[in-house]
Amino acid sequence: MTKFALGLMSGTSADGLTVCAVRPMPFKVICFKNYPYTRVLQQKLLKAYQLNADSLSALHYELGALYAQTVQRFLKDFHLSAKNCCVIGSHGQTILHAPHAKFPHTLQLAEPSFLAEKIGAPVVSDFRARDIALGGEGAPLMPFFDTFIWGKGSPKILLNIGGISNISLVGKGVKPLGFDVGPGNTLIDLCTQKLLHKPFDKNGVTAAKGTPDKALVKALLAQPFFKQKPPKSLDKNAFGEDYLTRFFGPLNKKHTPDLLATLTYFTAAAIANQIIRFVPRRAQKEIIVSGGGSYNTTLLSFLQENLPHTKLSFSTEYGIDPQAKEAAAFALFAWLALNRKVNHRPQATGAQKATVLGKITL
Ligand SMILES: Nc1ncnc2c1ncn2[C@@H]1O[C@H](COP(=O)(O)OP(=O)(O)O)[C@@H](O)[C@H]1O
Ligand SMILES: [Mg+2]
Repeated sequence: MTKFALGLMSGTSADGLTVCAVRPMPFKVICFKNYPYTRVLQQKLLKAYQLNADSLSALHYELGALYAQTVQRFLKDFHLSAKNCCVIGSHGQTILHAPHAKFPHTLQLAEPSFLAEKIGAPVVSDFRARDIALGGEGAPLMPFFDTFIWGKGSPKILLNIGGISNISLVGKGVKPLGFDVGPGNTLIDLCTQKLLHKPFDKNGVTAAKGTPDKALVKALLAQPFFKQKPPKSLDKNAFGEDYLTRFFGPLNKKHTPDLLATLTYFTAAAIANQIIRFVPRRAQKEIIVSGGGSYNTTLLSFLQENLPHTKLSFSTEYGIDPQAKEAAAFALFAWLALNRKVNHRPQATGAQKATVLGKITL
C-alpha cells in the first residue's frame, strides 16, 4: 500500500467532520467520508463563541479526542492501515475569526495531540495563525490548493459553498485572487432548522416552492461588505442568527418556502455580485463548484440565472468530490508543511510573504 496523507475539515456549518485520504505526489484523492456531528454538538459549536474560558478549553480537548476517534473509524471503514499514514492535516473548528480586531486573531479548536497519540502520525494544525502573524487575514487558504491543481489551465473560478462562500481565481494569464464572497449555507440552514426542524433544505426543494423577494436581496447587496475590495474574509457569524433575524425576521412558519427562496436567492446573488464586481470579465467563463451547497439545485439555478454567461461545473469532473475538496487540501498542506515546503498563497490573504503554514505535533 502506498503512503497516504489525511486531511480533516469541519467548516462553519459545523455539520460534521470530513476526513479525506490523498496520495500527495502526484496528487490524487483516494477516498473520503463525512461523519456528521450530533445535533447537540452542532448547536454547541455554532454557539461556542459565547463560551467562557473553562468551557472553551474543555471543548478544545473534547474535539481533539473526537477527531482521533473519527480517524480510527475512517481507517477501519476504508481498510487503511495507520502505519501507512504519513501525516494528518487538521484544520480544526473555527470558533471565531477576527483579522480586523485591534490584535488580529483567529481561533480553531481540536487539540492535535490526541490524533498524534492514537494514530501515530505527525499532525499539522493551526494553519491560519502564521498568516495572521504576517499581517494577513488568515483566510482564505484554498487559493493555494486551487492554484496547485488548476493553476496551469485556462482561467477558472473555484467556488466553495460551505457555511460561508468563497472563491478563488486561478489559471494562465490571470492575476490570482481569492476571497470570501458572502453567505454560503448558514442562513439557509438556520432557517430550515428553526422552521422545519431539519438540518438543511435538502437539494433546495423547499426553496424551489417559494418566490424570492428580489427587491430585498438587491437592498442587502448594497451593504458595505459587498463593496469592499478583496482580499477580505468573513467571520462565520457575519451571516448568522443575528443577521437572519435582523433582515429576514420575524421568522414565520407560514412563509417558509418564500423565506427559504429569498435566503437562497440572496446567497446566489451575492456570489454572482462579487464575481461580476471583482473578477475580470474574460475570466468569468467557468466556475467549478464545491462544498455542500453544490447539492442545493435551487441555489445553483439562481446562480446560473445571475451569471447567464458562465458555465457551472463541479469539482467531481476533476476527480475531487465537492464535499471532499477542503479536507483534501488540508492533507496536501500538511504534507507540504512536514516537508518544509510553502503551502501558502499570500496574495489571497494579504500576508506580507509566502510561508509554511501550520504547527507540527510529532
Ligand atoms: N443534499 C444537499 N442539499 C442541500 N444542501 C446540502 C446538501 N448536502 C449538504 N448540504 C449543505 O452543505 C452544508 C455542509 O457543507 P460543507 O461544505 O460541509 O460546509 P462546511 O465547510 O461549512 O462544513 C450543510 O450544512 C448543508 O447546508
Ligand atoms: Mg462540513
